[in-house]
This record gives sequence, structure tokens and C-alpha cells, in this order.
Amino acid sequence: MTKAKAAVFASGTGSNFQALMDTEHLACEIVLLVCDQSDASVIEKAAKSKIPTFIFNAKAYPSKEAYEKQLVQKLQEVNVSWVFLAGYMRIVGPTLLQAFERKIVNIHPSLLPAFPGKDAIGQAFQSGVETTGVTVHFIDEGIDTGPIIAQESVAILSGDTEATLKQRIQQVEHALYPRVVNQLLQSSSNF
Ligand code: GAR
Repeated sequence: MTKAKAAVFASGTGSNFQALMDTEHLACEIVLLVCDQSDASVIEKAAKSKIPTFIFNAKAYPSKEAYEKQLVQKLQEVNVSWVFLAGYMRIVGPTLLQAFERKIVNIHPSLLPAFPGKDAIGQAFQSGVETTGVTVHFIDEGIDTGPIIAQESVAILSGDTEATLKQRIQQVEHALYPRVVNQLLQSSSNF
């Protein structure tokens, strides 16, 4: 059976992109990286893995609709059926959402609905909560909202700094995201 094709959207370091790439039996084939920051280190990671990359500058387009139309076209050209957001720091608009209904998944470093948006790890650390974690969810028009697929808790320990907490959260992300991707693909191929 041929594998479903997927794109990863990322804006930064790309450790989650790398974790998906390094998964031995990923149930989909990652055929495209989409990146909105021309200096992001995820671009180098994709080049090393020989994954084609589409880099765009949102400011060069008249609107979100305009760049998302182009993204939809790029995704359709390579027969992508799933989109995995991995540190993509933009709100996805109706153009992409309608083209890939229930096929766009995000990972976020908190137990949503707590600490949405930017710097979720710092927000949790500074708030004094004892537990934070990781959420994988389908996206909608909101910021880190949409139906939750999976969550895993991470305790904030008394000796933690933001850096040590981030390290443990990312370890959880790198195991959870590939696992959820595989579960989603396997359950959707049963229909
Ligand atoms: C990850 O921790 C991801 O959960 C987060 O950005 C980081 C990207 O790291 N996403 C969000 O905050 C989405 N709101 P990476 O580039 O090393 O994968």
C-alpha cells in the first residue's frame, strides 16, 4: 500500500520535524516542508534529508488568503493529504482550513486550553503551576484551539529552570507527535 503524503509546516528550529523524519515506521511520507522564515534552521534539516522546501514571505503577499492560496496549490501539486504543524507560528486561515478539513494537526507545548499562543513553556513556568505538558490537536481558526487528539503531562520540578523544563517537554513532543501521526493515519485508512 502506498503511504499518504504529508507536509510539515515549521517556522524555527525544526526538532519536531526532525523527530518525524527520524521515525522508522512513520505511516506517511513527508514530501514537503513549508517554512515562513528564510533563516530558520529547519530549512537546513530538510535539505539534509533531501525534503523539498517551500519558503514564503508572508509580507510579500497582499493577504493571508493570497499566500494560503499559493500554499494550497503547492500542497495539491505534490498530492499532500495531511499537514502537520511543527512550530509554525502563524494562525491558519479559512483558505487552508477548507482545503484540508480535519487534516491539519498541531503540536503545542502545554496542556491546552492552558497557555495557548507564544512561549507556552515560559508562561507555564512563570505561572507557578506544578504540571504542564504537550497537546496534539486538530486546528481551527483560533490560536491553539480545535479538537484535542492527545495530551501528555510533564511535571514542573522544584529544581527546574525554563531550559530544563523545555528539554523535558520537547522530549515528550518528539515521542508523542510521531505516535499520534501514526494513530491518525492508521485510523483514517480504516474508513
Ligand atoms: C515546539 O515546542 C512546538 O510545540 C511549539 O513550537 C516548538 C517548535 O520547536 N509550537 C507552538 O508553540 C505552537 N503554538 P521545534 O521547531 O524545535 O520543533
